[in-house]
Order: sequence, then C-alpha cells, then structure tokens
Amino acid sequence: MKYEPDNIYEGDSKNLAQHIEPNTVALSVWSPPYHVGKAYERDMSFFDWKNLLRRTIEAHSIILKPGAFLTVNIADILCFKDPDMPRIMAENISRRKRNDITREKVLDVWTKYPNYNRKQIASILGCSEQTVDRRMKGNNIRGGKYETQTRVKLVGGLIEQFALDCGLYMYDRRVWVKDAAWENSKWHTMSYRAVDEFEYIYIFWKPGLTKVDKNRLTRDEWTAWGSRGVWFIPSVRANDDHEAKFPHELPRRIIQLLTDPNDLVIDCFVGSGTSATTAIRENRRFIGVDITPSSVELAKRALNLALEERKQKKPDLFNMIQKTDEITSDNTIKTDVHKTGTPLSFAL
Ligand SMILES: C[S@@+](CC[C@H](N)C(=O)[O-])C[C@H]1O[C@@H](n2cnc3c(N)ncnc32)[C@H](O)[C@@H]1O
Repeated sequence: MKYEPDNIYEGDSKNLAQHIEPNTVALSVWSPPYHVGKAYERDMSFFDWKNLLRRTIEAHSIILKPGAFLTVNIADILCFKDPDMPRIMAENISRRKRNDITREKVLDVWTKYPNYNRKQIASILGCSEQTVDRRMKGNNIRGGKYETQTRVKLVGGLIEQFALDCGLYMYDRRVWVKDAAWENSKWHTMSYRAVDEFEYIYIFWKPGLTKVDKNRLTRDEWTAWGSRGVWFIPSVRANDDHEAKFPHELPRRIIQLLTDPNDLVIDCFVGSGTSATTAIRENRRFIGVDITPSSVELAKRALNLALEERKQKKPDLFNMIQKTDEITSDNTIKTDVHKTGTPLSFAL
C-alpha cells in the first residue's frame, strides 16, 4: 500500500521505503524512542533499538528528495545499564544531613490530602518535591545496591554513523533546552551529575540540489532562533494522552526553516500528532506513521482537526493544496542554491 499525503498510518518506520515513493519527501522530522524504558519500547533490547534507528535512517536515504533533510530530535541515554562498569561507590561527606522524611510520613500526608499534588505535599512536610518523589518511588532510583550500574551513553555518534553508512551527511545540529526534568535525573543525591534539561536536533542532508531561501524567516526570526545553535523551548507540560510529546514549536521551526508550502513533510514516529498539526498549519502536505494503534488514533484526530481548521480559515488554500500535489511555491524569493557536494551553511 502506498501512503497518501494528509493521512496517518499504522506501520513500522523500518518499512517506510515500501510505502513512500523514492525521492519525494522534502523533510522528515521525528523523535524516536530514546531507549529509556517508555511503554512503547519496553520490549526492545539495545540491539533492537539500534536496528530500528539504522533501518529507519536507511529508508530515508531512499525516500528523501535529493537535497532534502532528515531531522532527528533525540537525547543521550542518561541511565544506560552497563554490566561491565564497576559500581560507583560514593561516600556522602556533604554537610547536608539526610532528612528524616520517610515513605510512611509521605503516605500519611497523602492519605489526609488525597487531592494534593507533590508540591503541596512537600510544603506540608517541609521538604523538596524530589524527596517526596523519591520516597514514593524507592530511594535508590538510580542503580540501587543490587542493580546494574548505569552510565551516560552518547547517541549522536551512533546515528551519525548509521546516516553516513547510507549516504546521508550530518549537516547541522541544534540543542533544545527544555524544562529541567528531575524525574529523568535519578542520581542527584549522591553524584555530581547534572539534571536532564536538554536534547538535540540532528539535521542530515541527502546529497542533491538544496534551496536556501533567506525569506523563509523574518530578520527577527533569524536573529532569535534561525541562526542560533541553542533553542529554548518549554517542554510539554501535559503529557496526559501520550507520554513523550515534543512541543509544537520544535517541528514548527524545523518545518519553517527547511521547507516551503505544499512540500511533503513526514514523521514516522508521529505519536500524538504534534508534527501533523504543525505541518498542516504551515500548509505543508503530511504523512504520519506510528506502530502503536492508540497513537495512530490520537494523531489522526490531531491531523483531521488541523485540516478542518485550515479549511475553515483558508478555504481557497485548502482547495488548492487538495487538488494538486505538484504546486511549487514560487512566492518565495530564491536567494541561494547549493549543488551536490557543496557544504551548506545556515550563516546566510
Ligand atoms: C517519542 S514518541 C514520539 C512523540 C511525538 N513526537 C509527539 O509529539 O507526540 C515515539 C513514538 O514512536 C512510536 N514507535 C515506536 N516504535 C516504532 C516503530 N518501529 N515504527 C513507528 N513508530 C514507532 C511510539 O509508538 C511512539 O508514539
């Protein structure tokens, strides 16, 4: 079955090339499983996970247009289990005394105030939210006495190599500074490590003719984020329907920077459909894929809402985009075009 624009499909990202015509995708923007034990990756070994990334990237070397981009939002694995690593033994010589908040005390307050959140419980007990969290989830969250030692595992080099192996080149990388995620940083009581608060956006290029159009962004946008290596974007606060959403602003910037209206944008780990909504709002054509049926349902709903919203707001544009896949957007001024093999730069 061939995937049609403006649809969401249940499928495996590894098989993309069977469903999408070669050389047709202007931009692929996705955030895969991070190998951190989320529900949708629980059964995947490290080997399976690497294989998923490798094969998905390989599929992109076929379906991307020459000169087009693949952008991957991912983070390093902060608690990578390594059975060969010696156990870290730390002596706590901090002058800060361990507080005397026990799990029983936390439970006691929680029973009295069942509707209170972690912050409110912490203020009653006179301790930090992290203490409440630790007492509820077990004290030795990071590598308890009998658990395998964990360490930081860098991910960028892995996917850079997968891309190189199939002819895609690392063109640029950005750092997304998000909210500090205390829950993901399970070590700060007895270590010097930092809290988890940034991720990466890796941008890969398929050799070919690439249009570099300064007019895609305003001067202010170039200054604020277009030519900046660090993007400050708050995390999604309500991950209630999907456990790992990225904020709309992330795919929006990528789509705005790297594509034109009516270009085909895809996300093969579409999750709740964040990129679907964004792509449609930016008047791009969009294909989304996810392996989890509940995510497919969410993303379909998001996509259809965005299509409906666009139809109401801009009926002419909607009809135009629906009628033909071949409209080129020459309303933008082409200022620079790079040919195969020429390194591109955002410093325009
Ligand atoms: C990090 S989430 C993406 C979240 C998405 N960016 C959003 O904002 O909602 C990763 C998604 O990849 C999906 N997934 C995992 N393995 C997959 C595979 N082999 N093919 C396609 N999707 C997969 C999961 O179901 C999950 O929804």
